[in-house]
Formats: sequence, C-alpha cells, structure tokens
Amino acid sequence: MLIAKEIHKSYGSLHVLKGVDLEISTSEIVSIVGSSGAGKSTLLHILGTLDHPDHGELSMNGKSLLNLRGDNLADFRNSQIGFIFQFHNLLPEFTALENIKIPGLIKGTAETQLATKAGELAEILGISHRLDHKPSTLSGGEQQRVAVARALINSPAVVFADEPSGNLDTVNAKGLHELFFKLRDELSQAFVIVTHNEELAGMADRQVVMKDGLIVQG
Ligand SMILES: Nc1ncnc2c1ncn2[C@@H]1O[C@H](COP(=O)(O)OP(=O)(O)OP(=O)(O)O)[C@@H](O)[C@H]1O
Ligand SMILES: [Mg+2]
Repeated sequence: MLIAKEIHKSYGSLHVLKGVDLEISTSEIVSIVGSSGAGKSTLLHILGTLDHPDHGELSMNGKSLLNLRGDNLADFRNSQIGFIFQFHNLLPEFTALENIKIPGLIKGTAETQLATKAGELAEILGISHRLDHKPSTLSGGEQQRVAVARALINSPAVVFADEPSGNLDTVNAKGLHELFFKLRDELSQAFVIVTHNEELAGMADRQVVMKDGLIVQG
C-alpha cells in the first residue's frame, strides 16, 4: 500500500537517512526501533508526508506522493494519514469530542456523519463517557486515546505513531498497545509505530530495526 524506496535525507552536512526502503501493507502493524538519533522520527515524518526527502520515491497504491504540493498535499494528508505523537497535542480549548472531529471538519465531512463516526471510535476506545471534557480534565491515558480517535476520524490508510506510549505509565501504555491491535483487527487499520517499548515492538506484525540512517533488519 505504502512504498518508500531509496529515501535519503540530510540536515546540513548530517546525512540522517542513507537509502531507506520500506513497504507497509494494509492492516499491518509495523514497529520501528533503534537507538536515539538513528533517524526513526525523520523517516516517520517523510513517510507521513510531513517532510520531504532529498532523494528517493514514496508512493501509496501506485500513486507518487512526492510531487504533491499545497492544497493537494494537505488534502492527501488529511484524508489518508493519521498521526499520534508522544505528547498528544490536543487543543486545550476544545472538548474531547471537538478535538476528535477537527480533521473531519477540515475535510468537510457532514456533522451528523462525523458525530456517528466519533461515537463509534469513542466506543471502541472506551472514552464515550469523557467526550464532553476538555483535555486538561482527562487522564494521560484518556488524552492519548482521544488523540488516537482524532487520528482515525477520517479513516486514514495508515496511522503513524511516534513514541505513542512514551509519556504513559505501564498500565496505560499496555492498554494503548492493545487498542492498536484491536483497531487493526476491527478496522483493518495499518500502523507504523516508532517505539523504545520492547514489549510493543515485539507485539508488532513486523519489527524494523534502524541503525545510523539505515534499516538493518526487517
Ligand atoms: N530539523 C533538524 N535539523 C537538524 N538536525 C536534525 C533535525 N531533525 C533531526 N535531526 C538530527 O537527525 C538525527 C536523527 O534524528 P531523529 O529525530 O530522526 O532520530 P530518532 O531516531 O527519532 O531519535 P530518538 O529515538 O531520540 O527520537 C539526529 O542526529 C538529529 O539531531
Ligand atoms: Mg524520534
């Protein structure tokens, strides 16, 4: 579904990605592990079209993504890509439900359809009873589950997560990890998860190991 070939990226004289090849299939959970500075986040941002490689190819279902610009790029990202970060990045002024709906509102989805979808996701994620609350009144685990629902509201082809459980305690981290697999099973959702959590990395369908800007395993 998503294919990256020969991806290179430098920041000044620092050659961060040195020719990365990676393929992600529908309903596959891939974990990316590797030491700090190996280039994991840089790769994730490029795969998610948040950053542009210096060299290489990136395509989804046969369509090249690297020539997308401006509104076309924003529309593609909004409808096909979901992101979950270590710090949930929820908007503090809005309720959980409003946060979940924002990408759908940007896409132009009808309000009734959005409310239904948000309700379904909240049900799966176990946050239905917290939807009227602002993020500051939610626990860390609840906030992260709201961020997961927000990432899924537009039914993206793939969700990228960068250290999604890095800020959670063991119990909440385990709960979040189990949710990823539930979402894969129930919605055929593909995930690419960068993590230092060995248990999560080991649970994935495929584990990719990065070292010094290259995939050395997986
Ligand atoms: N915008 C940037 N400008 C300059 N250098 C950068 C930039 N982003 C990343 N780097 C450098 O690129 C290298 C790879 O960074 P990256 O964030 O991809 O590592 P990582 O594998 O995600 O590490 P960590 O596990 O610590 O998050 C690092 O040496 C980092 O300092
Ligand atoms: Mg990183």
